[in-house]
Amino acid sequence: MGYFSEKTIWITGASSGIGEALAKELSKDGAKLILSARRENELVRVQQACAHPEKVKILPLDLEQHEQADDWVKKAWGLFGGIDGLVNNGGVGQFGDSLETDDHVERKLFEVNYFGNVALTKRLLPKMLEAQKGQIMAISSIAGKFGQAKLAAYSASKGALTLYYESLKEELYHTPVKIQVVSPGFIQTSVTLNSLKPDGSKMNKNSPAQENGMPARVFAKKLKKVMQGSKFHRYIGRKELLAVPIHTVWPSAFYKLIRKN
Ligand SMILES: NC(=O)c1ccc[n+]([C@@H]2O[C@H](COP(=O)([O-])OP(=O)(O)OC[C@H]3O[C@@H](n4cnc5c(N)ncnc54)[C@H](OP(=O)(O)O)[C@@H]3O)[C@@H](O)[C@H]2O)c1
Repeated sequence: MGYFSEKTIWITGASSGIGEALAKELSKDGAKLILSARRENELVRVQQACAHPEKVKILPLDLEQHEQADDWVKKAWGLFGGIDGLVNNGGVGQFGDSLETDDHVERKLFEVNYFGNVALTKRLLPKMLEAQKGQIMAISSIAGKFGQAKLAAYSASKGALTLYYESLKEELYHTPVKIQVVSPGFIQTSVTLNSLKPDGSKMNKNSPAQENGMPARVFAKKLKKVMQGSKFHRYIGRKELLAVPIHTVWPSAFYKLIRKN
């Protein structure tokens, strides 16, 4: 029996990209899956593409409507009679100058990436603590580690997420519930394509960074390993991860470098 066989894992943002790749990867290992995102038809497509579609259930939801989180968690818990893991992956990007970006776009980034994510965790945790088992992972971003031009709201939402979960990890230190964060670098998905412009419309254009990034399938295999381990925070990506130590040790050189590129 492998780590995931017969475990129930709830993945948000499962209708594309990283969430889709993780669903396929965990299904191969025999996991029972609950897939969430807004687009029901895409969730059905992912369900059918999984190795064991009969062990995959879908629960459509819009993270921006997180006042419904109680209801989602009740429903999700009931689908297989418990949840062993939540991968809080659903999220949206943003690209544009801060002064041009509508307040409602910045608010949406936080409602989806931060409050939606945290609401699921807060409603699910009491059930996991009562069951004396469980793991919760948040997908943050390398962009949550340092600020960059045109990514202010996105970086802020992801930075907030990382710090929230770091605090939660400390609060839960003496419990059997495992809290983890993974910060991806550049992964080949539609995240930039789906990112919001300053007026709230979609970018509808991919970025070379994403196109040349790590394939989502490769990323999902690495993510699966992290879920099996005990390390709190991992970065997963390629050479872009060098930005993290350079920014920490020599921030002025770091910004000189990214202004050039
Ligand atoms: N790809 C990268 O290079 C990269 C780097 C760092 C971090 N990340 C993070 O990785 C996560 C997954 O993104 P991805 O790269 O796989 O991009 P993606 O293909 O655009 O996936 C985003 C997922 O989030 C869901 N989502 C978006 N808004 C939602 C909402 N309001 N309610 C519920 N679900 C919502 C989308 O589904 P629906 O549209 O069907 O709702 C989709 O399944 C995100 O949190 C992203 O910030 C990605």
